[in-house]
Amino acid sequence: MTKTLLITGGCGFIGANFVHRILRQYPDYRVINLDKLTYAGNPANLADIADDERYRFVHGDIADVATVEPLVAEADCIINFAAESHVDRSILGSADFLHTNVNGTYVLLDAARRHGIERFHHISTDEVYGSIAEGHWDESFPLEPRNPYAATKASAELLVRAFHLSHGIPTVVTRASNNIGPYQYPEKRVPLYVTNAIDDKPLPVYGDGLQVRDHLYVDDHCSAIDLVLHKGTIGEVYNVGGQNDVTGIDVAHAILRQLGKPEALIQFVEDRSGHDLRYALDSSKIKALGWTPLVGVDEAMERTIQWYVDHQDWWRAIRDRDDYKAYYERQYGDRLK
Ligand code: NAD
Ligand code: TYD
Repeated sequence: MTKTLLITGGCGFIGANFVHRILRQYPDYRVINLDKLTYAGNPANLADIADDERYRFVHGDIADVATVEPLVAEADCIINFAAESHVDRSILGSADFLHTNVNGTYVLLDAARRHGIERFHHISTDEVYGSIAEGHWDESFPLEPRNPYAATKASAELLVRAFHLSHGIPTVVTRASNNIGPYQYPEKRVPLYVTNAIDDKPLPVYGDGLQVRDHLYVDDHCSAIDLVLHKGTIGEVYNVGGQNDVTGIDVAHAILRQLGKPEALIQFVEDRSGHDLRYALDSSKIKALGWTPLVGVDEAMERTIQWYVDHQDWWRAIRDRDDYKAYYERQYGDRLK
């Protein structure tokens, strides 16, 4: 059946992987990609499908009512990936995070209220729960965000919930753990470490490197979104995690080992302020819906590292930009001696 999906933030890491998946899996679907092309939005991520007649790119801001209104009127479903997504940047300054993550989500919801929509799928994160010393969060745990990025993602979720309950918007939410894979902007840890290691630059490990994250291969995240978009229960929230505990220092070692680089590249640096100790999701609810992750954590890491080895033009074009260099200097200039 033909459907028009309004995908926001499709030029970013996960959005681009998801646009690829939709065009591959659903020959009858049309995709409108609304993206502001911030520093993280990269048209090169979708260059291979740019001329596909089922695909349309709209350059614009999800917080701009005039842009959003006609697109929502045209769409059957909205999948909202657009966000400011980097914790360290949210600590340096939070205004853009409030603008896009909170106000932008509100503008999309309000347009959905006016025009009616089959599904509003909001992409969220495990970071809304805060930090958990042991055990795993299920979807009933309270939202206790601890950094500005997570606070804006939690705020967006509260709006999604309220618009579902007050206005009957048919919402679903997925909360995923740390994604890795192709097209991730090299400010996030894994692509930062891989690209630094290839160039024999230091790998900055915050604090003692014992913080734990759950890694999820981006294709498995996209298959989960696909499933919830089509089969999830309206009004529900679904955790999406790989159910593995990986420490920072383990990540650095795995990357250096695969690339054949020396451990001396690891540099312990001043910790992130308010650094969350551990994220860990219980994903049994989405598994009961039929989701099975296909790529284990070791293979996910291997494939991801190899992708950056094979696509140096992609990331060197980013790292050569003045805005990337300015961010790197601001974030690491005082940390890396
Ligand atoms: P990203 O930073 O790589 O991409 C974000 C995209 O949104 C970019 O293309 C950017 O140009 C666009 N964008 C930003 N502000 C916009 C605006 N106002 N209007 C329109 N477009 C705008 O992010 P990502 O890592 O792909 O994350 C996508 C979503 O998934 C986000 O909502 C994020 O919170 C969530 N998430 C990410 C992870 C992860 O590990 N990366 C994990 C869980 C959830
Ligand atoms: P990141 O990729 O920013 O994702 P998130 O904070 O959303 O989990 O960071 C992942 C982990 O890596 C987190 O514990 C912080 C740590 N980290 C470093 O140790 N050094 C770095 O340079 C970066 C960017 C992150």
